[in-house]
Amino acid sequence: MQTVDIHTHFFPESWPDLAARFGTPDWPWIKHTEPGKAVVMIGDRPFRKITSACWDAGIRLEHMDRDGIDLQVICATPVLFAYGREPHHVLDCARMFNDAALELCGRGKGRLKALCQVPLQDVDAACKELTRSMRAGHLGVQIGNHVGKKNLDDEGIVTFLHHCADEGAAVLVHPWDMMAPQRMPKYMMPWTVGMPAETQLSLVALILSGAFDRLPAGLRICFAHGGGSFAFLLGRLENAFNRHEIARGTSQFAPSHYLNRFYVDSAVFEERTLQYLVEIMGADRVLLGSDYPFPLGEERVGHLVRNSKLPSDVKTKLAGGNACNFLGIQSASSSATHQTGSTAGECGGLVGAADGAPPPVPEHQADDRLTYSSYLKVPELLSLQHRQSTPAHHDELLFIIVHQTYELWFRELLHDLEAVVENLRAAGANPTSRDEVYEAARLLRRCTEIMRVLVEQFTILETMLPTHFLAFRDVLNPASGFQSEQFREIEFLCGLKDEKMLRYHEPTPEVHAALNRRLREDSLRDVFFSALTALGMLPPLTPSATDRERFEARARAIQKLYQDERNHRDWIDVCERLTEFDELMVGWRLRHIQMVERTIGARMGTGGSTGGSYLKNTLEKKFFPELWEARTMLEK
Ligand code: HEM
Repeated sequence: MQTVDIHTHFFPESWPDLAARFGTPDWPWIKHTEPGKAVVMIGDRPFRKITSACWDAGIRLEHMDRDGIDLQVICATPVLFAYGREPHHVLDCARMFNDAALELCGRGKGRLKALCQVPLQDVDAACKELTRSMRAGHLGVQIGNHVGKKNLDDEGIVTFLHHCADEGAAVLVHPWDMMAPQRMPKYMMPWTVGMPAETQLSLVALILSGAFDRLPAGLRICFAHGGGSFAFLLGRLENAFNRHEIARGTSQFAPSHYLNRFYVDSAVFEERTLQYLVEIMGADRVLLGSDYPFPLGEERVGHLVRNSKLPSDVKTKLAGGNACNFLGIQSASSSATHQTGSTAGECGGLVGAADGAPPPVPEHQADDRLTYSSYLKVPELLSLQHRQSTPAHHDELLFIIVHQTYELWFRELLHDLEAVVENLRAAGANPTSRDEVYEAARLLRRCTEIMRVLVEQFTILETMLPTHFLAFRDVLNPASGFQSEQFREIEFLCGLKDEKMLRYHEPTPEVHAALNRRLREDSLRDVFFSALTALGMLPPLTPSATDRERFEARARAIQKLYQDERNHRDWIDVCERLTEFDELMVGWRLRHIQMVERTIGARMGTGGSTGGSYLKNTLEKKFFPELWEARTMLEK
């Protein structure tokens, strides 16, 4: 069983005097008391006794071997979050500690990975530092559960979480700066009472504010200490939600609907509590976290999970499988089937480490030369298939991969179609030059070949039995093909602009804005006919011309081109490719409908449409209707 501890802390052995550097008092500093021992001080007050396990990779590895831990994720200590201080000071401090974390990982024989820290009080700076840290090698970020009075549902923090999803960064939420300190002066109450309550508060705020509805499903977020009191008070929350209007927020669903949107660690220290946590959260959502090497951490890391009475497949998930999903790195089981890139096995390659064998050095760390997998980002790509069904349904992987493949090809289509637009624009600006017309036709040929593959690809999905799809369909609700941004972009770019479709993107303002821009831009169809006007094939139309007059004039221009084949072979080629593209798009719509009917019959769509019958109405849509109209007008 591979074992990953996702919640451990570190301190560097030394760091600059932050109070002197920033000219403000009470920054943490380290006072070494004897070899291997130190006290972290806040001003002149002792904050915590620590040992060299905080900064000495050798000692950490010894402890990991003793406890059978293959991989440890280190992150700073919440006392360094400093969200109440000057953002540029905190950014400077974050950089220092983020770089120190990577230095420590560098000494960890590939068995230490890091989460960075950011100045969350300044969203722009936080996003930039996250991006910088991810590029430098961090796997994600640890954040505090609030910024002063702002909970995690604060708009700026949600923007930051969105950015984490975009960057593929795992987010560990750690409680800090606990509430009601005046009532918790003794008995470590801020840790035993304040922390669980803080985490509960954060989760409730995220859920009821509808933040999870707006955030991408791909966001990987985990809450420390078993998610605080959340799982244990879920019944209370749900009861209030169901019975009292004022207990509801703006979330689309009741709180229990969102359990598959976040992870919690296993730092609960009691077997029955762990069993209950797994029962509530599901076996895919709990992962090993120990709080090592701090006083309230698990003394023998992994002991609770390993010695629990949970079924062995569940223990395997808790010990490491779920952590790999959370961190976006490969697990041993998946790496076994992907041996082409030697970075495969970030996690898996470490299994042998506890047996004494040195873990293999990932290829991209061995030297800086590009490899097949570092260039193509194969490990990252293979870590992006997160199944929502519990237990994971076999066919959900196919469902995800087919959709992701479509989206990748949509991306290439947009890339090529944009180049077609530019070439046609250039052809219009210089009507005597032929190069751009040939280039547009060549690129359009690529687009039609891609479309042919896209029409064919539905057959793979049709190998999934309807009953198998129904087994996990409900967990996908309310995600729908209506929300495919790129599909809609292709439609808008080609000239099929329906402003009403923007409403499906209201929950994601940046996508909404991008589509809005596409809607206002000249489409391929506009640019094509402008070029024909420049060529003298289409007389300029007065602004008062009706849509019908415009349409007929454009169709006549196409007719003129085809009737003068000797002089316009290149433009006719463009017209043929555009027509073929249109034809294949209708082919795509038709095959999609057949596949939908074969899979869900006459059921409604998850996007709220009537399903197959709605989709049938889209068969009439054409990108370039004038090209079709001209066919009726042509003569021998
Ligand atoms: C079992 C597989 C699938 C089912 C049951 C299905 C079902 C549906 C339904 C019912 C709709 C109508 C909107 C709604 O109410 O949700 C729709 C729309 C859509 N689907 Fe699928 N779909 C499947 C697979 C795919 C795949 C593989 C793609 C690839 C990209 C895709 C892309 C789309 C797009 C782009 C739309 C919007 C179409 C438009 O507005 O014209 N779907 N789908």
